[in-house]
Amino acid sequence: MAQDNDVVIVSAVRTPFGRFDGVLKNVLSFDLAIAAVKEAVRRIDLEPRLVDEVYYGTCIPAEYALYTNVPARQITLLAGFPETNLSLTIDRACCSSMTALRLAYRAIKAQDAQVVIAAGAENMGNVPLIAAAERARWGARLGPVVLEDVLFELGYGRTGFAPVATDAGHVALEYGVTREMQDRWALMSHERYFAAHREGRIRVGEELMRLEIPRGKGEPIVLERDESPRENLSLERMAALRTVYGSPTVTAGNAPGLNSGASAIVVMSRRKAKALGLEPLAQIVACEGAAGQPKYMACVPAQTIEKMLKKMGKTIEDMDLIEINEAFAAVTLVSLKMLARDDDEAWRRLQARTNVNGGAIAIGHPVGASGARITMALMYELRRRGGGLGVAAICGGLSQGEALTLRVDG
Ligand SMILES: CC(C)(COP(=O)(O)OP(=O)(O)OC[C@H]1O[C@@H](n2cnc3c(N)ncnc32)[C@H](O)[C@@H]1OP(=O)(O)O)[C@@H](O)C(=O)NCCC(=O)NCCS
Repeated sequence: MAQDNDVVIVSAVRTPFGRFDGVLKNVLSFDLAIAAVKEAVRRIDLEPRLVDEVYYGTCIPAEYALYTNVPARQITLLAGFPETNLSLTIDRACCSSMTALRLAYRAIKAQDAQVVIAAGAENMGNVPLIAAAERARWGARLGPVVLEDVLFELGYGRTGFAPVATDAGHVALEYGVTREMQDRWALMSHERYFAAHREGRIRVGEELMRLEIPRGKGEPIVLERDESPRENLSLERMAALRTVYGSPTVTAGNAPGLNSGASAIVVMSRRKAKALGLEPLAQIVACEGAAGQPKYMACVPAQTIEKMLKKMGKTIEDMDLIEINEAFAAVTLVSLKMLARDDDEAWRRLQARTNVNGGAIAIGHPVGASGARITMALMYELRRRGGGLGVAAICGGLSQGEALTLRVDG
């Protein structure tokens, strides 16, 4: 039954996601975030002064390091929010914008805040090459100064961990999820995306916004659809791709790319939505965070979902739709297999209602923006289907997880 202190989503939007080497490659992630946050409030005619806090997820600090150490603050000021607006930058790897939603949920439930924006952005194509201080700042007495690429293996190798693609591949094989299964899932991600796009399920005005980035004296950059989805793929071509980062199964085909984009979701209490005359689009029924053994990142969406469902007294079979971020095809498939308790028939059933309009392999994975993207993808699809319950989950580097449950009333 609807209650005044329910936490509801009243606006949710994302920019189209760009390719690594696409039209957004020289755009600062802040500009993507500013565009998404402004559009999220513009759509519901919400005055920025009514927003108590903005939580902003982003997780490749090298990308914005040239501009600031406090991205959330910079973004809210540049987006025209009042100086008194509170903001917080969150880095929980790929989970970050879903963590922002969980913190928003908590703040509203605790009546610490009435209106919160949970947002996230990343521009992986705009990440500079950097030089280590020991050689560049303090000087190399002799020899070259080397530029480092923090995107390579996402840097995990430097502190003794394996690249996430490597771990995901090994764990997939351990769980009986073969390279071919991963390639098939990846192919389906693109096919489902194109079907959804053709049939108007991924469109400007709903999940997507038209992105327009001014460019000095030149024509603005305009983007109205995602750049990464690939047409005319075949299993044969996918099978021929070499594996990356020493992974036994992960390739450019069954991994997401290195993408650009931003997402923003406005969350408030049902009471506040009523007072402002806004229609709740979905209720956030529960949120959960979890973490596990670093190597087993592919398992953590399932573990986080299980933890949340147990508290709710529900099972995965109660969920009409599922989003599990395609950090790699391996992650979605392993987690679904765990949720299916290794029952092949149940696994197939779960796959049929997971990422039904395509996932990050097709759409892209601008890491800080993805948690909010899968949340709104779930929400808009539940709405199109006339309501129901759905779960979204995402993993983040070294095995962190976030999950949330949405209810859309019919
Ligand atoms: C996998 C990765 C290394 C590939 O980077 P890249 O080499 O720049 O990727 P590209 O898009 O150029 O693809 C490489 C090749 O594969 C081909 N390719 C990509 N997807 C394909 C597909 N589905 N089918 C057939 N060929 C495909 C491309 O055409 C390209 O071929 P070419 O070399 O002949 O031009 C990079 O995208 C990556 O690191 N992804 C993972 C990101 C990540 O870890 N995110 C966090 C998760 S926790």
